[in-house]
Amino acid sequence: MPAIQDMQGKTVVITGASAGLGAVSARQLAAQGATVVPIGRSPEKTAAVARELGVEPLVADFAKLDDVRRLADQLLERCERIDVLANNAGGIFPKRVQTVDGHELTFQVNHLAPFLLTALLHERLAATPGARVLMTSSLGNNMGRVKLDDLDSSRGPFLSLRTYGTAKLENILMAREIARRWAGDGIVAAAFHPGNVATEFARDSAISGLIYRVAPLRRLLLISPEEGAAPLVALATQTDTSLIDGVYYDRFKPNGRHSKQADDPELARALWERSAALVGVDA
Ligand SMILES: NC(=O)c1ccc[n+]([C@@H]2O[C@H](COP(=O)([O-])OP(=O)(O)OC[C@H]3O[C@@H](n4cnc5c(N)ncnc54)[C@H](OP(=O)(O)O)[C@@H]3O)[C@@H](O)[C@H]2O)c1
Repeated sequence: MPAIQDMQGKTVVITGASAGLGAVSARQLAAQGATVVPIGRSPEKTAAVARELGVEPLVADFAKLDDVRRLADQLLERCERIDVLANNAGGIFPKRVQTVDGHELTFQVNHLAPFLLTALLHERLAATPGARVLMTSSLGNNMGRVKLDDLDSSRGPFLSLRTYGTAKLENILMAREIARRWAGDGIVAAAFHPGNVATEFARDSAISGLIYRVAPLRRLLLISPEEGAAPLVALATQTDTSLIDGVYYDRFKPNGRHSKQADDPELARALWERSAALVGVDA
């Protein structure tokens, strides 16, 4: 990727910064001079990362949309500008769980909550020249299938990988739609697969979690969190945003392997409108 921009004076908001590749990205971008706002679910873990960076943490559980609304208010109060919003929090969940908001947990944590957060920060992003929204997606998007009439995957048996893949496909569709819908505001967006990374990811998943839990498999098949953070850091610091706008990367490779649905602009538009209606925003 091309030259990196100077991060002095830039504000970077990272969700999922209490652990894994989000925590590493937070450290690296802070070391490059950015003012980083680390957001996590666990107050203790998020506070530990924030202490290292010498900043105040923010905490929100994306399984509760009211937490996301409160978080957006706190960010608007704290950040005069938002140069980078990294929607990185996410995970795969082994069982069907319904959130207090009535949505399937994977869909809410990986798609609906970041959608709501981004929509609530729209004006601040638009007011920041060169602002960008980054979505931590996954190669798993290839296993997904977006059904507009069943976004909560309520029909049929619960397949955790498929549900996760669908949410990660929605991350790509969201980046594509921001690129189209908010072009006039100068906001750009990209999505990426970070690689298969040795983090706490998939810790609760029986089969798909095996390579993440079993030490020899972990060493053999997974890259380090530092390597996993590299695409996020590169996209956050990239100077020529026209190159990344609306693009899905497989690590550093543009147009990484993705579901056909990710190339459907009508689906991207319809998913956006449906999501906005579900969370009650006009975005
Ligand atoms: N690791 C991989 O191989 C891999 C591959 C492709 C994509 N990804 C994606 O990369 C992103 C980062 O994952 P990671 O690998 O760094 O895993 P991780 O170590 O498990 O970190 C996940 C982060 O998301 C946060 N999070 C989880 N559930 C949340 C909730 N309900 N509300 C708010 N925050 C929540 C966690 O917060 P707490 O720690 O505070 O609970 C943590 O900060 C995820 O979107 C994941 O889907 C990972």
